[in-house]
Amino acid sequence: MKQAMGISSSDFDYLRQLIYTHSAVVLDGDKTYLAELYLQSIAESAGFATISSFIAYLQHQPFNHLHTQTIEALVTNETSFFRDTAPFEALKKSFLPELIQKRKIERSLNIWCAACSNGQEPYSIAILIREHFPLLTDWSINIIASDFSSKALNRARQGRYNQLEIKRGLSQQLRAKYFSPVDNEWQINDKIRQMVEFQQINLIHSWSALPSIDIIFLRNVLIYFDIPTKKALLGKVKEQLRVDGYLFLGSGETTFNLDESFERVQFDKSICYKLHST
Ligand SMILES: C[S@@+](CC[C@H](N)C(=O)[O-])C[C@H]1O[C@@H](n2cnc3c(N)ncnc32)[C@H](O)[C@@H]1O
Repeated sequence: MKQAMGISSSDFDYLRQLIYTHSAVVLDGDKTYLAELYLQSIAESAGFATISSFIAYLQHQPFNHLHTQTIEALVTNETSFFRDTAPFEALKKSFLPELIQKRKIERSLNIWCAACSNGQEPYSIAILIREHFPLLTDWSINIIASDFSSKALNRARQGRYNQLEIKRGLSQQLRAKYFSPVDNEWQINDKIRQMVEFQQINLIHSWSALPSIDIIFLRNVLIYFDIPTKKALLGKVKEQLRVDGYLFLGSGETTFNLDESFERVQFDKSICYKLHST
């Protein structure tokens, strides 16, 4: 039986702490209504009559799949194809051509989407490469896409999008070329899907499985972290990025006042970052 559900401030504090410990994401204090909305169905399908009894359970049990589901439900995974347009234009017109020239002996490029959500971002890069850089067909192009959320990664690996998602950022022409309709949804073609390697990486843990990277997309995730976490992650980016590589952040994010090893590079409306040359 459905009862009125609600989240007390102490329950919300517990959720904030749970999410912070496992992802470093700082949940806004005014997001109780969202937490209620997202947790209601998890609590119900796990057999709890109220959100508070569900949270009491979480508090007293060892970490299990319900904690994971709770965290993944409350961390924002908003994304879209070719999000913000400008970074992808800059990649196409400036940064990829430059790096292709620099890597013409190695014939290899490593690109990392460090918080890839449901996959639209790495697939946008794969589509862009296939559309505009036919000469890379016989290069080793590694697009690594990672996220800490297994729910997001499962969806990303599947590469299937609903009508709303497919319309966000993708032209009809690209949709027709790279997706097929399946059960009222759109399935990405295998050729594009196979260009992306998905890995589960929690940004606050080790990145040791990764090679050195030429282009890092770390977009729309730093905003959810506190300053010490942002600084720590930018310090790790510095180690992971090749000396002449590029870092793309979200439009509301910057390295400024956080890590002075990076300099801003602007191309048209897009800003990205590279390491200061020593
Ligand atoms: C708002 S989405 C951004 C997706 C994409 N980069 C974009 O700009 O459209 C943020 C993503 O960061 C992921 N995330 C949050 N904390 C993370 C962490 N500690 N490690 C890895 N991924 C994390 C979330 O699961 C989510 O998919």
